[in-house]
Amino acid sequence: MEIAITPVRALRGDLQVPGDKSISHRAVMLGALAEGETEIENFLPGEDCLSTIQVVKSLGVEVHIEKDRVVVRGGGLNALQEPENVLDAGNSGTTMRLMAGILSGCPFFSVLTGDASLRRRPMQRVIKPLSAMGARITSRGGNAYAPMAITGGALCSTTYRSPVASAQVKSAVLLAGLFADGTTTVIEPARSRDHTERMLSYFGARIQVKDKQVSVWGRPKLQGCKVVVPGDISSAVFLLVACAVVPGADLTVRNVGINPTRSGALEVLKEMGANIIIFNERQVSGEPVADIRIRGSRLKGTTINRAIIPYLIDELPALAVAAALAEGETVVRDAAELRYKETDRITTVVKLLSQMGADIIEQEDGFIIRGGRALQGTECESFGDHRLAMAAAVAGLHARGITKIKSAECVNISFPAFFNTLNLLSVQ
Ligand code: S3P
Repeated sequence: MEIAITPVRALRGDLQVPGDKSISHRAVMLGALAEGETEIENFLPGEDCLSTIQVVKSLGVEVHIEKDRVVVRGGGLNALQEPENVLDAGNSGTTMRLMAGILSGCPFFSVLTGDASLRRRPMQRVIKPLSAMGARITSRGGNAYAPMAITGGALCSTTYRSPVASAQVKSAVLLAGLFADGTTTVIEPARSRDHTERMLSYFGARIQVKDKQVSVWGRPKLQGCKVVVPGDISSAVFLLVACAVVPGADLTVRNVGINPTRSGALEVLKEMGANIIIFNERQVSGEPVADIRIRGSRLKGTTINRAIIPYLIDELPALAVAAALAEGETVVRDAAELRYKETDRITTVVKLLSQMGADIIEQEDGFIIRGGRALQGTECESFGDHRLAMAAAVAGLHARGITKIKSAECVNISFPAFFNTLNLLSVQ
């Protein structure tokens, strides 16, 4: 599907974005491991989370889905059954890595695979610690890439010092730790998003968090419960950036997750001069949630590096667009992890914005953007990466002429109604 974006004069609206992708995945997985019924409200019915539902169904778990309401009937930690066929995680790294942790604890054989993009992403980062806990895992490329064959069961608890700040690695080890006697601890170089810890504790597991160290006590009795998923800040940020750069724009996004390990982009946008107000702060199912109002202004460049990077890693394509439209220089450093996402997002962001006329230079671990050059509409590739397609669309709203985005259907991964939502907001 090719989408054409025409420039907007202004953006105005008051809306909600779909449920958080990371939290939707975890709610289904923990629901599958818990005893009794888990009811998930505002579930994200995007392709990635549907892959997770398909995988847990193949393991014998009953799941009912009706739009954004999902009911999972789990039978406890020992109730999963050997799947009859290969498990397909599609485009979803979260499905593959977190399920690898769960399957490592299950005493049967399973194979996890995914689409071409996911089969290029590094899996050694989970295979190594899960094998050290006792899982038998073999995979393509000398235990580097999916497909991954797992024979699980009889795990030992561990203390794992992860070389990367990755929530997927941390979560894989913690989920495997549920099946082991004793306490499993993960220590990270910088804190990654903490939804797994929060939700494990919400379902009744014993969790301890000390700075960059998280421990889970093995063999808990997880209890099915109701989870209300907040709106996804990673989706909201595309709309916030679209408005941030247009004086006169005015947008309120309600019911957005503002977990501090996810909301780094709000800090950066504020630092760039965006006019953002966060209000109605509340707690929902163990996660902080708020409404966010943004009014357009002129932005200035900034530096984005170090410990904040994991708190905004998925927002860097959107922030790069903001930087291209801001005055002055923006430097993104310490973000080499971007190279291991759905695409190598350092290369693809640089390609996209250069093609649109921005002054952007690729670095090993980020990019440098000298903002303020007028962007030019062009025909661009999404490379099948949902966040790149959305970044192209936001840039296109503020470019001269028409921007055409190829393979734009990939937005269905995380924000199926994205283009309709942009239409609703746009004042031509
Ligand atoms: C995710 C963690 C992040 C993020 C991804 C979703 C998760 O990856 O980029 O989109 O749900 O745990 P890391 O594992 O690199 O932190």
